[in-house]
Amino acid sequence: MSGPLVVLVGPMGVGKSTVGQQLAERLQVAYRDTDDDIVAEQGRAIADIFVEEGESAFRALEKQAVRRALAEHDGVLALGGGSILDADTRALLSGLRVVYLSMDVEEAVKRTGLNAARPLLAVNPRKQWRELMEARRHLYEEVATVVVPTDGRTPEEVTQASLDALELKEA
Ligand code: S3P
Repeated sequence: MSGPLVVLVGPMGVGKSTVGQQLAERLQVAYRDTDDDIVAEQGRAIADIFVEEGESAFRALEKQAVRRALAEHDGVLALGGGSILDADTRALLSGLRVVYLSMDVEEAVKRTGLNAARPLLAVNPRKQWRELMEARRHLYEEVATVVVPTDGRTPEEVTQASLDALELKEA
């Protein structure tokens, strides 16, 4: 086996889970999400892991979860928004079809601003978002084989744009 058919990366709230599930359905493969893997394995919410153990402990769990999923899963895989911060993870993505779902700051605040389950945007969403993206944008671009903007698009439109960009035929 040679890894997932498609990997989705991009910031929190951009729609990786929704688009990932739609892509998996259209391609007739399974969907997997590394955040869900961590929650299932740890038996607690991601926000709780952040509060109880801190971000670096979460990143270590995330790194393991991503490595495992990349080795095991051959369908559509969505990665947590911060997983590309890890250089080893970025190296593991090379040679795979990686879609970067992008969005601008206003769309991000609209989609994630009031979501308390997202610990990284809890205090000042707009400012935190800008800082987060300044640190990460080039990393998403580095691992991506295609970039699909999501602003003003429905999940269905984003799914279709991803299939078109990847030139993947449906099953
Ligand atoms: C994070 C994104 C979240 C989750 C955690 C940290 C990040 O995943 O892993 O809250 O650093 O961007 P989603 O991108 O699936 O929301």
